[in-house]
Amino acid sequence: MMNGCGDGNDMEMGAVSGQSQDGLMSREKSALEGLVEKERLLDELFKLEEEASRAIARASSSKALAETATAVLGKRSTLSTIHRQVASLQPEERKEIGQRLNEVRQKLDELIAEKRESLSAHEREEQLEAERMDLTEITPSFLRGHLHLVTLTQMELEDVFVGMGYKVAEGPEIETDWYNFEALNIPPDHPARGMWDTFYLEVGEPESVLLRTHTSPVQIRLMLEGELPIYAVAPGKCYRRDTADARHIPIFHQIEGLVVDRGITFGDLAGTIETFTTAYFGPRIHSRLRPSYFPFTEPSAEFEITCTICTGKGCRTCSDTGWVELGGCGMVDPAVFSAVGIDSEEWSGFAFGFGIERCAQMRHQIADLRALIENDIRFLEQF
Ligand code: PHE
Repeated sequence: MMNGCGDGNDMEMGAVSGQSQDGLMSREKSALEGLVEKERLLDELFKLEEEASRAIARASSSKALAETATAVLGKRSTLSTIHRQVASLQPEERKEIGQRLNEVRQKLDELIAEKRESLSAHEREEQLEAERMDLTEITPSFLRGHLHLVTLTQMELEDVFVGMGYKVAEGPEIETDWYNFEALNIPPDHPARGMWDTFYLEVGEPESVLLRTHTSPVQIRLMLEGELPIYAVAPGKCYRRDTADARHIPIFHQIEGLVVDRGITFGDLAGTIETFTTAYFGPRIHSRLRPSYFPFTEPSAEFEITCTICTGKGCRTCSDTGWVELGGCGMVDPAVFSAVGIDSEEWSGFAFGFGIERCAQMRHQIADLRALIENDIRFLEQF
């Protein structure tokens, strides 16, 4: 070293330097070892940095990342081992390694923090997605239908009469001959029975029990209850041996009206019919009464309303008359009052009855009544 000649000389010099040269040699040796050690540590740090960075990048969950962080930075990590080894280095080298160590630790800290942030954001998203409730989701449910047009019409008609102070009554669909005919002033074998094509049931005496042909027997039931005065309507099913056509079906609905009070006149009947007509069909539709015959009313009338198809101008539906028949009506016949024991000198009254299907037909311009019982959903769902 002194003359600047290579290693061999150094050794030689050392060999002749005796004790003091021995000291120099070991200093040099330890400096050399220190250098090697430093290089080794730097190398190790480099490798550690690489491996740890990759391990952090690989962590697939917050939990895995926490484990990686402990392995990389914890007390038993390579980093800590290197840290402990630094203590045995010369100050110069210690400083260099120390700096590098801090750099590596800082870098790994940052990588871990970044990774932790992105993992937890991702996990939050996954959790939200898993717990998400889709309130807009349409779950398959049963198709809900609605009430049939005839039922809706019946309910509306009831409403109109309830609004006029009437109560709603009901009677059975299976009647005896007495309620359906006799008490209504239609004795057995009377030609007026021909007005109704009756279904008889095979119960009791022949032709004694039947499917009611009209709602008029409810008049009898109401009057037999014995409470006067009466202001009532009675809707319900009726049966006739009719062949179905555009304006008739064998099972149909009527709504019966009955008023019994003191001093009731034909004018009250006409006014009631007109009030009902405009309330249900609207102000442009009116009513008129035409003389007719029913055994249980005297005088009797058929009541007609303005044809809703042509509003009275005349068309095919109304046979160019501008009017369409809706039902029958009249003043309660004294013979009916006597059948139920009401004094016709003190009480008087009127009755009316008309088809509910016919009302729906007029209100909604239904060309053929049979559509109401064919159950074609495309037709029914319109109402
Ligand atoms: N019941 C009669 C029919 O079905 C209608 C009606 C009812 C007539 C009340 C007068 C009074 O034809």
